[in-house]
Amino acid sequence: MMKIDIRYYTKSGHTEKLANAISEVINVPAKPISEKLDEDIDILFLGSSIYGNSIDPTLPKFFNDIDVNIGSIVSFSTAGVMESTYEQIVELANLYGISVDKREFHCRGEFAGINKGRPNSADVENIKRFVRDILD
Ligand SMILES: Cc1cc2nc3c(=O)[nH]c(=O)nc-3n(C[C@H](O)[C@H](O)[C@H](O)COP(=O)(O)O)c2cc1C
Repeated sequence: MMKIDIRYYTKSGHTEKLANAISEVINVPAKPISEKLDEDIDILFLGSSIYGNSIDPTLPKFFNDIDVNIGSIVSFSTAGVMESTYEQIVELANLYGISVDKREFHCRGEFAGINKGRPNSADVENIKRFVRDILD
């Protein structure tokens, strides 16, 4: 049986919305990165976002505090303009020798009057399909 966890960082709930969609598919609670991983896992769905061109500084801390084995990370993200947080997550994971799946999920998040209502219901359906594909 594969062991899977979900962690996310969110400021305004956009990335959390994606995390909750993943949770619905795999029946595992979506938790903020302030909740430490407490057992070895095969897959970690890790959600992040962009503020001032960067992922939040609590993400490096989250990585630094990991003391369990992780098979691989699957990154998902929202951002106002940037296409993804993937490269920043890979860079961080590499520091700790954790592999990151080449597949990622990204969608727009509402920001300063653009991307109104995103992530929307289509984004939620898209990430659910993405997760089913990953687990296939
Ligand atoms: C303080 C702040 C700074 C932001 N800076 C950027 C940025 O530099 N580039 C970008 O693409 N989006 C930026 N955004 C937009 C967020 O990435 C976007 O709203 C995202 O969906 C937020 O996700 P969250 O609600 O999970 O925190 C910024 C948002 C905030 C609140």
